[in-house]
Amino acid sequence: MTKYIENMLQQIGNTPLIKLTKVAKGIKANVFVKLELLNPSGSYKDRMAISMVEAAEKGLTWNGKKLSAHGVVCDASSGNTAPALAFVCAVKGYQAKIGIYKSLVRKDDIRLKITRIYGADVIPCPSPTDYMSASEWKKLSKEEKDLSWVIAGKKWAFDLEKNDPSVVWVDQIYNKYNYIGQMSMGYEIYEQLDGKIDAWGCSIGSGGTMLGVSLALKEKGVAPLTFGVVPFKTEVYIQFKKGVKEAGKNDFWFSNAHQKLVGLMNLEKWQTEKSIIEEMFDRGYPEKMFRITDEEARNMANRLAQEEGIWCGISSGANVLAALKIAKKLDYGQNVVTVIVDRRDRYLGEYLHETYVV
Ligand SMILES: Cc1ncc(COP(=O)(O)O)c(C=O)c1O
Repeated sequence: MTKYIENMLQQIGNTPLIKLTKVAKGIKANVFVKLELLNPSGSYKDRMAISMVEAAEKGLTWNGKKLSAHGVVCDASSGNTAPALAFVCAVKGYQAKIGIYKSLVRKDDIRLKITRIYGADVIPCPSPTDYMSASEWKKLSKEEKDLSWVIAGKKWAFDLEKNDPSVVWVDQIYNKYNYIGQMSMGYEIYEQLDGKIDAWGCSIGSGGTMLGVSLALKEKGVAPLTFGVVPFKTEVYIQFKKGVKEAGKNDFWFSNAHQKLVGLMNLEKWQTEKSIIEEMFDRGYPEKMFRITDEEARNMANRLAQEEGIWCGISSGANVLAALKIAKKLDYGQNVVTVIVDRRDRYLGEYLHETYVV
């Protein structure tokens, strides 16, 4: 009997769960990581990319626009979403158009190279001052200025979709098919641990993974302690009290900068809808949040490669550090789960401001 797969999309998901032994030495509770680096384009974003594209094929988009045969899928992303969308589009025969944030990535960024190799168009997004006056932009705080590049990218995608009938903007920050796609990971973890999950957490960009996995576990009747992770240098959708590294519910909140910039740049869609992060907060996830520096995260990512043989990216190191902090407070037989988000290859061109971006 022949055994083969029809295409690479069938390789998405069903990743192994591994118990950490070396880096978790001396800790009573078990620490498990989901090996999402084994997805075809190298990260867990393949799950949400196929989910959002297949929803678009059915017209399940924010404005009901349906992705036509050989149509164009667009979003602004300088993170793992870019290769994931490019990969899914390549196999399905769509053109991916990915806007990149000029301020956040270098032209030779490896994620962008991967994205191009999958056949996507990679286009530098306009600057914030293309959508708001330079004098208004100058008045913004440093953190608002950083975020303004992301909002400008989303405005670019919004305009592209509006002006071209063949383009569907999948908008990962607001699209519920992002977290619906990530739910499959939660079902798999549930099966892999027979439903015994005491704590679950991961780093938060769009919030799709945190919300999707938490909802899948909830659907199965499991309610672990949930913890989120944000790097020190990030696009600041989530704000922390100054100097706080480990926060309970009242010490973190959704950024005001976000709504302010959306208003200034007149990004209509984002003025009316609720983002995944807002929905995640409304539903009470996560209960705890950790801020991890890039250096701490990178050191742990290196240890994971050197001690456990897991060749993972920086945010995976941050995830494991947070999981270890939680596990230290738990007992024998209790299970803490987090994610190995992506492979290390995409960080090989590291530069000073390396961090993860959505
Ligand atoms: C490396 C990395 N870690 C973490 C995240 C956050 O994942 P999510 O967008 O599901 O919150 C991302 C998002 O792109 C990512 O690329």
